[in-house]
Amino acid sequence: MKIAIDGPAGCGKSTVAKEVSKRLNIPYLNTGLVYRATAYVCVKEGIEPDDALRVFEKPFEVKLDVAKTEVFYRGEEITDRLSSEDVGNVASQIATVPAFRERINQYFRALVGDGSVVAEGRDAGTHIFPDAEIKVFLTASEEERARRRYEQLKAQGMEVDFESVLKAIVERDQRDRDRPLYPFRPAEDAVLIDTTGVSVEEVVERVLKLVEERV
Ligand code: C5P
Repeated sequence: MKIAIDGPAGCGKSTVAKEVSKRLNIPYLNTGLVYRATAYVCVKEGIEPDDALRVFEKPFEVKLDVAKTEVFYRGEEITDRLSSEDVGNVASQIATVPAFRERINQYFRALVGDGSVVAEGRDAGTHIFPDAEIKVFLTASEEERARRRYEQLKAQGMEVDFESVLKAIVERDQRDRDRPLYPFRPAEDAVLIDTTGVSVEEVVERVLKLVEERV
């Protein structure tokens, strides 16, 4: 069974997808992490976002343990350096490059094959797994999404202020929606869930109910 959970920055998709994956005992795939890892290496190596595919060539030595949601760069784990809005911003520039998206989507499909997955991102239900049995699109108000991101970054020990986080996610969402090819949209057959003021547990329960009803 394939479950696609998409949505904009701070909509809660990682938290919900991880929990659904745990409860159903199905592997979890965070597609945004690959965009973020690529962004991190591009900045380190002085590679332009348009050339991002070079990151997967030697000698840059990126290792993605997607199953464990861990990223290594030259043997060092960099997973916890990928969550900043600066990295997210470069990730969304890379995400506008169609050749990169096509290559990376092939990689995701090859990784999962015929197996089950709970995949989260922006295009899990539209382009990566268009045949997913369950497609969910999470939304929340801009303020709530910014607040969640702000709390999350602060909890990771980062120096952040709320206004900058709000500005950064609004810009990133706009870039994701406005890219000429593969713009960020809900799949036509996705179930929309507005998570504003709704607890994680309630959202998880709704997704699990969809699974029960449809499978
Ligand atoms: O989900 P996350 O915030 O980690 O994603 C970072 C950026 O990577 C997004 O703003 C988006 O530009 C890009 N992305 C994408 N398609 C995906 C996952 C992430 O375009 N499936």
